[in-house]
Amino acid sequence: MWWDNAVIYQVYLRSFQDSDGDGVGDLPGALSRLEHIAGLGADAVWLSPVYPSPNHDFGYDVSDFTDVDPSFGTLADLDALIVRAHELGLRVLLDFVPCHTSTEHRWFREHPEYYVWADEPANNWRAAFGGSAWGEDSVTGRYYLHSFFPEQADLDWHNPELRAAMGDALRFWVQRGIDGFRLDALDRLMKDRELRDDPPASGPPALPTDPADAVLEHRYSRNSPDVSRALQAIRDAVGDDILLVGEVYLPTGELGPYLEVLDIVFSFDALHAGGDAAELAAAIDSGLRTSGTGWVLSNHDFSRLPTRSGADNARAASLLLLSLPGTAFLFQGDELGMADATPSGPPQDRHGRDGFRMPMRWDESPHAGFTTGTPWLDTANEPVPSVAEQERDPQSTLALVRAAIGVRQRLGSEADLIEARDGAIILEGEDSVVAVNFGDGAASAPPGDHVELAANPGDGDDLTVVPAHGGWVARRDR
Ligand code: NOJ
Repeated sequence: MWWDNAVIYQVYLRSFQDSDGDGVGDLPGALSRLEHIAGLGADAVWLSPVYPSPNHDFGYDVSDFTDVDPSFGTLADLDALIVRAHELGLRVLLDFVPCHTSTEHRWFREHPEYYVWADEPANNWRAAFGGSAWGEDSVTGRYYLHSFFPEQADLDWHNPELRAAMGDALRFWVQRGIDGFRLDALDRLMKDRELRDDPPASGPPALPTDPADAVLEHRYSRNSPDVSRALQAIRDAVGDDILLVGEVYLPTGELGPYLEVLDIVFSFDALHAGGDAAELAAAIDSGLRTSGTGWVLSNHDFSRLPTRSGADNARAASLLLLSLPGTAFLFQGDELGMADATPSGPPQDRHGRDGFRMPMRWDESPHAGFTTGTPWLDTANEPVPSVAEQERDPQSTLALVRAAIGVRQRLGSEADLIEARDGAIILEGEDSVVAVNFGDGAASAPPGDHVELAANPGDGDDLTVVPAHGGWVARRDR
């Protein structure tokens, strides 16, 4: 399928390109920058949620599944973006949010049976962003379940009418020419029918979790054994040709049931490994043995790649990400080496994620060409050189990322992890060796014959030694 070995570029729309001076990125702005994405060699774009939203969770609190938020433009703007993307050879994925809606969605009042209700908090479940997962509805005095912010009421996927309504929403977008969906928060999609209490945790969580929630083992609040019924309803609505990428916040070893229906599921093990080479190698090893692994080293929810892997390792980490067999996801700004920033001005996201969502830096004009107005997140504290500056520098991160995507197209679709030791990770493909070294000392590498791409100038001059914080992709003669 087209997504095997593809690179999918994540556009966080609010921060990509503003076209009307309101300080918020939008669809016409994104359209005007599609050449940048195609020019990297990416195969597809994933747009963060485009739907009308009161923005308590910046688009992940959807108030209408079949329209576009006015701050982003119109349905016609999205149609135009899809047409232009296809002309450039880019597929388009929407971010679909099946787990919950905004409490301002008309369904919340007109179809309360689509949601999960109780007369009082029914159990000890916790919301991912803190506090009880039960919110009191001021109109009825009853309690509704919310796995995230209280403004995001959880849908009941046991209800066949809800499944049908969501199927209609998905088909609406397929008919408009969308090529796939990134599906939000799937481990929370299906709830335990009896709403049983989660038992106390017997150990630390497998992935980073809100500390108050980490004291529970999420036996009933997440990862329901019934999830495939909901996933199958989604698959039936869209058909087999539409790419379905799951955001499932579970370790790779638990993704099997999701991958029976979905095409790709993100590896959060790899994302959270950061600069810990041993952990990253273990995540890669288990991802390589799981068909459908989506490699992702940063996104709009967690620290950015150079912050996560260590600034010294950022180039080697990018090279590794883009050399892994499977599907790789590149978050906007990672091609520039953007790290976490501290925006001045009032916080926007209540969960503290503003620093990962800073606007793109396009050129040397005010606000780096992102907006002619006042950006929703201040651009002043972001030190990374812009796209225009990096285009002029053959040693830039931008040049490395573009070259890595080019080399990726010549790498095979299979590789084995052959070594993970002292900070080094080495992968062997049919006729290639990928070697990176996150450690402070040099590491040895198995022989390759020609360097195809080096993380830093000079890496790979000696193909038996991977310098500290360096790496390369080498080719082997047959
Ligand atoms: C995951 C999304 O990536 C995140 O931004 C959002 O807050 C939660 N799901 C809830 O929808």
